[in-house]
This record gives sequence, structure tokens and C-alpha cells, in this order.
Amino acid sequence: MRILLGASELFPYSKTGGLSDMVGALAKWLAKAGHDVGVVTPLYRGIAKQYPALEPLDYRLDLPLGARTVSAQVHTLAAAPRLTIYFIDVPEFYDRSAPYQDNGVDYPDNAERFIYFAKCVAHLGRYLPWRPELVHVHDWQAALVPTFLLDYRLRAGGGNQPRTCFTIHNLAFQGTFPRAKYPLTNLPWDYFQPAGLEFYGSLNCLKAGILHADQITTVSARYAREITTEEFGCGLDGALRARAGSIIGILNGVDYEEWNTEENPHLKHPYSVRDLSGKAAEKAALQHEMGLPVRADVPLFGGVTRLTDQKGVDLVLSALEEMLATNLQFVLLGSGARPFEAAFRDLQKRFPQQVAVRIGFDQGLSHRIEAGCDFFLMPSRFEPCGLNQMYSLRYGTIPIVRRTGVLDDSVVDAADAADATEAAARANGIKFSDCSSAALVRAIRKALAIYEDAAVLRQFRVNGMTADFSWAGTAKRYAEVYRQILAR
Ligand code: ADP
Ligand code: GLC
Repeated sequence: MRILLGASELFPYSKTGGLSDMVGALAKWLAKAGHDVGVVTPLYRGIAKQYPALEPLDYRLDLPLGARTVSAQVHTLAAAPRLTIYFIDVPEFYDRSAPYQDNGVDYPDNAERFIYFAKCVAHLGRYLPWRPELVHVHDWQAALVPTFLLDYRLRAGGGNQPRTCFTIHNLAFQGTFPRAKYPLTNLPWDYFQPAGLEFYGSLNCLKAGILHADQITTVSARYAREITTEEFGCGLDGALRARAGSIIGILNGVDYEEWNTEENPHLKHPYSVRDLSGKAAEKAALQHEMGLPVRADVPLFGGVTRLTDQKGVDLVLSALEEMLATNLQFVLLGSGARPFEAAFRDLQKRFPQQVAVRIGFDQGLSHRIEAGCDFFLMPSRFEPCGLNQMYSLRYGTIPIVRRTGVLDDSVVDAADAADATEAAARANGIKFSDCSSAALVRAIRKALAIYEDAAVLRQFRVNGMTADFSWAGTAKRYAEVYRQILAR
């Protein structure tokens, strides 16, 4: 098949979270399976310098954006056999230090930036010489693409339009903008109504994908069910229920070529289930790197996360207030909401021997934290899929998660097993249910007990490291979905 993907972040070129990992891996595995794959993504600052093999296409895109025409240069990169990346180069929009925000605040022109991006994806979907059969777009930043293609089909009377697939990675981000931004779409006003792209008087980009894609997918079966309920629907559960027959959940895989402990440029001490000694060395190296006392006997907890409500970082903060009275260390890598950043910095100031915090984004450190910690904290309020808990399992770092979404499905707590024998054979993490710091504190106490017993600790690690969430199966399921769409 000939598939064009469109996403606002793409590993290894740009990343703020799991979306980047997922689209990067999907593209790679589809191409490995023999499909022709293109990915359209913005050319953010620094990419061109880092990838000198970029080549400009010999034509520019001149597309309307409201009353103006904005011109984009497209650079291509042959990333792998059958895999081409199309970078959209509009310095005015994408030559910025981060994809969506600066200092914790969204850029004021995100409507312009991503409405334009969606137009470029739709345009390339129509006109690339290799004629993509299907355009698969991700999250709100690309969600207008199905509407642009539909509108073109209706107005231009058909033709060989590519079919569309839309994946929701996180319903909490919808791309809502004031009505005054709607003309930037250059769509007729007919679409701006409650049964269309309007959401309580505003433009809602995510709704466009929900209404007009041929097929909707989400990143797990569980999230596919959750988003049609009022509790998790973020106001769009009605629109989603209306399309319930066209929503399918496919669990993300883990790119074990990137996320592994045996051949990893970010780790100095390779290790595996057969020989875990490198993990102890990674722990010591991490304690040293983070400026903490290098102590093998002290359990090391960690987190790598966007600092938002979704991730339950407030629970971590208050649980630590209580638990730092015991003998444990905590390291955090994250960025996001300013008050959370300040609170973690303050914690580090008050407990310099126990807490080390890095505010920012650091791919290498994210691997070293996954490898060097004993326990990984992920007490999310909701989690569409969550990749970090799966990375932790593979790195032999015991995840402590809340029983929500895929966190519940992908981690096995001893209490999930029928009996003690099964628990010993399968348990690989610690789960708690209540969304409260008291419940997290109880989970941390369980972790401390596990840490005291070397044999149990080892068994948890081995069980986690042998769990398998590989991408091959995930890519096969997407290919099946594409085939079904194309057969309709
Ligand atoms: P989400 O996509 O909701 O943020 P996931 O668990 O799916 O959650 O994916 C998070 C990804 O982003 C992981 O690859 C994680 O390592 C990475 N990540 C999050 N914050 C940072 C950071 N500050 N520095 C480096 N990597 C980060
Ligand atoms: C979103 C979700 C996360 C998921 C990721 C990749 O960012 O919050 O749960 O793993 O997308 O699909």
C-alpha cells in the first residue's frame, strides 16, 4: 500500500511525548513490512543542521491561509528503504525552539501554524507523484486533513482522493481556537456548526478528524471504549458515540530497536535478563550524574514526564513529602506547567541528598533514568496508552502505576494473579487505584518491601524485562485497518 502519515512531531527529528515515538515507529515498521510510506512533519529549528542529507523538492507549496498565501519549501529525507520524510519549512511558523509552546505557554499563533500544516498534509496527499492511497493523520494538529480532503472531494467532484484514517492519542488536547480563526481554514461556513467543527462557539480541530475521517483509531482498545463515555470524553463523547462503529483501538508497540538495554548509545553499561550487573552500574552512574550520593543500598525512584495534571505529578509531590522521611532517593526529568516545575525545584532544594530534578527535555537522560532507577512512578489520572511504563518494564525498572487505562492492562500486580505461584511468575509492577497521595504512599511502601528482598526484586525485574510489546504486531493491525478502509 502507499501510505502518507501526517504528524506534528516525529522521532527522531522532534519530540515532546509519546506521539513522536509512536508515529516514528509506525512509519518505520510499515516500511519494513514492504509498504511505501511518507511522513509529513514540520521542519522545526535545528533539524536541517542535524540532517544535512535533507533535499529540497523542486516546487514550493503556495497555499491560502485566510486572506494570505503562505509559501512553504518542502525538504525530503530518505530515512530508510521505502520511507521518505517530507519536512514543511516555513521559518515564520516552525523555526522555534519547541513545537507547541515556550516557557509553558502555547504560542499565540498555533491556529495559523497547524491549520497551515494540515493544509500542507492534505495538499501532498493529493499531489505527491507516488499517489498515496491513504492519508493517516494524528492528533488535533493534523485533524483538519480529513475535512480538507472531503471538502475537496465534494467541491471538485471526486477524483482519486486518498482515503483517511485519524488517530486520537490524547483527547485532552483538541486544538480549540476562537471563531475568528475559522476563516484561516478557507472552508465554507457550512462546516462551522454544532454538528460540524464548532464546539460551543469555537473552532475545534480535533472534531474535524472525528467527523470526517473514514476511520478513527485510538492507541489502545481500552481508550477506544473510554472516550465514548462522559467521564473520559472531554466534551466530545457525543460526537464519538455517533461514530462508535468507526472507532478501533490498537495498542502502541515499543520500538525495541530504540528502547533496549543491550545496544543503546545512551547507556554505558549494557545489561540483560541474563546479567543484570550493568543495571547496578547504570544506577551508580545516574546517581553520580544527578549529583546524588552514590549508594547501592538506597532505593532509587524516578520519573520522566510532561508535568501536567494528566500525569498525576501533584500526587508524586505530596507522596514524596511524606516518603522522603524514609531512606529513598528520587530523580525527575520533566517540563511543563510552571507551578509543577517550581514545586519540584523546591523539593530538590529542601532535600538535596535525596531529590534531583532536571527541568527540560533530554532524550539521553530519559534512557538513563529508565535504566538506572529501581522504580518508575507513573500515577496518571488517565492514560490513552502510555509508553513509559512499557519502557520501564523492558529496562527492569519496576513501574508503580495507577489502575487506569492501559497502565492497568500492561502492568501486572501480584494482586492480579490467581495465586502465589502465578504472582511469582508474572508480577512485574505495583498498582494502586485511588487517585490520592495516600494510595501512592501505600504503593511506595510496597516498593520498599520489594527492595528489601533481593530474590523478589530480581523476579519482578525479570518478569518485566521478558514482557513483550513489540511493534511488528501493531504495524500489522494498522495495515489491516488500512486494507479495510481501501476496500470500502
Ligand atoms: P505522553 O505521550 O502522554 O507524554 P508516553 O508515556 O506515551 O506519555 O510517552 C512519553 C514519552 O516522552 C517517553 O518517550 C518519554 O521518555 C518522553 N519524555 C517525556 N518527557 C520527557 C523529557 N522531559 N525529556 C525526555 N523525554 C521525555
Ligand atoms: C499521548 C498519550 C499517551 C500515548 C501517546 C502515544 O501522548 O498521552 O498515553 O502513549 O500519546 O500514542
